[in-house]
Amino acid sequence: MNDAKCVLVVGATAGIGRALALAIHDLPSKPTVIVAGRRQERLDELCPKSERIKGVQVDVTGGKDSLKEFSTHVTTHYPELDAVIFSSGIQHLFKLEEPETIDLDLFETELVTNYTSVITMITYFLPQFLKLSEKGRPSFIVPITSVLGIVPGPWVPYYSATKAALHSLSLSLHTQLKDTQVNVMEIFPPLVESELHDRKFKLPIFND
Ligand SMILES: NC(=O)c1ccc[n+]([C@@H]2O[C@H](COP(=O)([O-])OP(=O)(O)OC[C@H]3O[C@@H](n4cnc5c(N)ncnc54)[C@H](OP(=O)(O)O)[C@@H]3O)[C@@H](O)[C@H]2O)c1
Repeated sequence: MNDAKCVLVVGATAGIGRALALAIHDLPSKPTVIVAGRRQERLDELCPKSERIKGVQVDVTGGKDSLKEFSTHVTTHYPELDAVIFSSGIQHLFKLEEPETIDLDLFETELVTNYTSVITMITYFLPQFLKLSEKGRPSFIVPITSVLGIVPGPWVPYYSATKAALHSLSLSLHTQLKDTQVNVMEIFPPLVESELHDRKFKLPIFND
């Protein structure tokens, strides 16, 4: 990852993705960093920091055609792309014991944001990385999962399940790509206070 030439961070407008984008930008190898997310004003704040920070607006819930367009745009404008970090994520509180309160639209958005959009984007970016591999060049797919994907947080049951699914996918991807130069590096961040937890509740751990 230290040698990556061009790193796309999906979900770089806040929190962990933003911090990673800035830290990667500061690596001695001086990579180009493409920051992506929905909020254009956040991209506009990041890009003037350096000529090596480029912004691309994306809503990962936009469907597969929109994500195809996004991946084609990125690989066409940045053919050196050799790493993608998937930091986009949302988290909702659901009370399973009160099914009448469950908003299934929110669940579907959570599922698409945290899981199915990542599969879709990996499918679209992988040909670029396999081409690099054929030339002997490494590349990196970096899904950000969570320890809640290993031991679920019952207060965020669907979030935990999406992270478990992404963890499972990361392991399969790692195994299937083992004979290529495409590296799958799953990140399990520790608990980080961020906008992820801003929405409707405070984590039990912060309630004291
Ligand atoms: N914070 C923690 O304690 C923690 C712990 C373990 C794992 N994680 C994981 O780490 C990742 C980052 O979390 P965070 O704490 O940094 O959260 P955050 O501060 O809320 O940032 C989430 C990022 O995801 C982007 N995003 C959300 N929906 C999107 C959409 N539809 N299209 C494109 N981008 C979208 C947001 O950008 P826009 O709103 O501008 O689109 C934002 O940049 C997530 O996958 C999360 O599950 C976090």
